[in-house]
Amino acid sequence: MNYARFLTATSAARRPSAIRMLNELLIRAPKSVISLATGSPNPSMFPFKTAVITTEDGKTIQFDEEMMKRALQYSQTAGIPELLSWLKQLQVKLHNPPTIHYPSSQGQMDICVTSGSQDGLNKVFEMTINRGDNVLLNEPVYSGTLHALLPLGCNIINVCSDEYGIIPNSLKEILSKWKPEDSKNPKKNTPKFLYTIPNGSNPTGNSLTSDRKKEIYELARKYDFLIIEDDPYYFLQFNKPWAPTFLSMDVDGRVIRTDSFSKILSSGLRIGFVTGPKTLIERIVLHMQVATLHTSTFTQLLVAQLLYQWGEEGFLAHVDRVIDFYRNQKDALLVAAEKWLSGLAEWHVPTAGMFIWIKIKGIYDVKKLIKEKAIKKEILMVPGNDFYIDSSAPSPYFRASFSLASPEQMDVAFQRLAELIKESL
Ligand SMILES: Cc1ncc(COP(=O)(O)O)c(C=O)c1O
Repeated sequence: MNYARFLTATSAARRPSAIRMLNELLIRAPKSVISLATGSPNPSMFPFKTAVITTEDGKTIQFDEEMMKRALQYSQTAGIPELLSWLKQLQVKLHNPPTIHYPSSQGQMDICVTSGSQDGLNKVFEMTINRGDNVLLNEPVYSGTLHALLPLGCNIINVCSDEYGIIPNSLKEILSKWKPEDSKNPKKNTPKFLYTIPNGSNPTGNSLTSDRKKEIYELARKYDFLIIEDDPYYFLQFNKPWAPTFLSMDVDGRVIRTDSFSKILSSGLRIGFVTGPKTLIERIVLHMQVATLHTSTFTQLLVAQLLYQWGEEGFLAHVDRVIDFYRNQKDALLVAAEKWLSGLAEWHVPTAGMFIWIKIKGIYDVKKLIKEKAIKKEILMVPGNDFYIDSSAPSPYFRASFSLASPEQMDVAFQRLAELIKESL
């Protein structure tokens, strides 16, 4: 892989920060080293001394004075070593990426911890996109991605998708305007990457099938583009075995995968991680060196302690409990939808995630219904147009999330919505 051709001039120009490198040296240094070097504050002046955090199983995570000093101090940019090594093992167990044994310059798998997967994604976009670059994605798409991409001035090409995710023939047709060798000629502006949310997509709830993934990966090889696999709902797949990921098929080192602990541990702690070829992870880390410096040491230590206490088995058992909860929530929303919206709307049953994408029949654009009338009746949903490149275009769809409401509230919400739809027809 020629990674240089995917980088913006800004990303290529990033150099390691001398102070950050010194800081990392200091963290690893024996106690006998006297540091007059970095601007790390003296932790004895911090007002927090110890903490004990109780987990749902009644156990505790302790921050004694020493641990607290570390938690409140600057740490390594890519992430604290114990969390990184735990996550690396997890990725190997779940995805067994072919790149794990590659030489570092040839796409070897690497990881960095980011402040949520959004932080990682945003840095991936800023690393790769110049104004006018072509990028591929399947709309409707997570609005956080759209709002990160649009200001960068790239040309977003929509690839058609259905309830099984991206349709490979649509991708083939789009790519047929180029020849495979065009990727070597910058003037041809071949697409730099394909972005997709493969499981329980936000907003549609759709999941991409493994057969389609394989076809898409082969097209990525042929036309030499990167695949950005934004997969925060991977751990919310309702059926086992979980789908093989793009990372698991990545023989070239062209997949950048973003994972998130938001949906399974906590969204407020802001812990996500980016997995991909070392050469590109290094660029993201250099960006972090001048942006966040690193993800909060306190939250990384909290999560690391929890993960070590649980072990991989305990972590996956927790994930199974979370999945059971959301499966029941999904079923409850479907019951309410069947009861009140049958004949008025249509939808697919999601196999992962937190969302159902509902099309209201006979209403060309539901924006007013959802944004004005529904709010007056005290129900909040997101109108479909917010998830399109052209958000001014009409859409008969809306996104309903089954994460927060109780089954009783879901029932009331769809009863009210059904009344509104009937009034509007
Ligand atoms: C598809 C998608 N990507 C990324 C994110 C950002 O998640 P995080 O909390 O890890 O930043 C979300 C959040 O909802 C999402 O739905």
